[in-house]
Amino acid sequence: MSDKTPTGGEALHRLLTLELARVTEQAAIAAARLRGRGDEKAADQAAVDAMRSALNEVAISGTVVIGEGERDEAPMLFIGETVGKGGPEVDIALDPLEGTTVCAKNLPNSLTVLAVAENGSLLNAPDVYMEKIAVGPGLPQDVVNLANTPEENLAALAKAKGVAVADLTACILDRPRHAQLIAAVRETGAAIRLIGDGDVAGVIHTTDPEETGIDIYMGIGGAPEGVLAAAALRCTGGQMQGRLQLNTNEKRARAERMGIVDPYKIYTVEEMAAGNVIFAATGVTDGNLLDGVRFYRDRITTHTLVMRSHSRTIREVRAHHYVGSSSA
Ligand code: FBP
Repeated sequence: MSDKTPTGGEALHRLLTLELARVTEQAAIAAARLRGRGDEKAADQAAVDAMRSALNEVAISGTVVIGEGERDEAPMLFIGETVGKGGPEVDIALDPLEGTTVCAKNLPNSLTVLAVAENGSLLNAPDVYMEKIAVGPGLPQDVVNLANTPEENLAALAKAKGVAVADLTACILDRPRHAQLIAAVRETGAAIRLIGDGDVAGVIHTTDPEETGIDIYMGIGGAPEGVLAAAALRCTGGQMQGRLQLNTNEKRARAERMGIVDPYKIYTVEEMAAGNVIFAATGVTDGNLLDGVRFYRDRITTHTLVMRSHSRTIREVRAHHYVGSSSA
């Protein structure tokens, strides 16, 4: 047997790739039917229902570790729920509708997102905020660091890229909590792309700056979205750090119950998503990364990114789902 022969787990991951794309496709179609209707909850619920029923058709014994919330606050896809019709034991991180508000307003970059990893290899992050910094592949290790100031990080990134700081663009969520960060970045002369929502896409955008125009992601967003973004970077390359924002005793206690001992720890990509990972995302609304779902008389089209860390294969799947066919 050659060293390249995939082990059971790796071979299985390869087979799972298309199955998982199907799951995010189904969730995206369901959410897109409610796109632009101004009803975040309805679109989210439709995505949750569709993702859950599609996941239950997949041959895995999956445990949701990043989901819709803790059991008492989420009736479906709650943390600890088991999904799948039986098979290898895997961890699942999911966000059936990432960017509920942008979906309700039919603005760019709303996605359905799913990551599957070997058992025990995803950070069990509580549903709190996480400070994040991310840059694309091909840069010196630790070129940016959450322990450094925005000015230091931008200067180091510009030096590593061989450009002026003024040539860089940082992607930041448009939130009042980022007023200081935004002022500090503007002070350096760098440009900012302010996004209304959707920092999983924001982080992934750093992996292809020539296409997206984004060199660095900075700021505070959801911790679950941080783990999902880390799973994506395991497949694309690129660096990210995350630090949970455990600023109350209640949050620290909740994190401790989930196994987090150091509340100030800065996590690397590998510490948030280790082992073999598959990441899938389908566009709900049009975005820089993915096109949104389109509805035609006889078919529905979807655009999906599905990636595997083991081989670093990145696939874009453009699917045509014929209306009335038994299995999309
Ligand atoms: P939802 O899909 O749950 O609405 O999350 C969208 C999002 O923009 C995430 O991408 C981001 O991590 C988080 O919200 C930021 O949280 P907040 O809106 O509270 O600033």
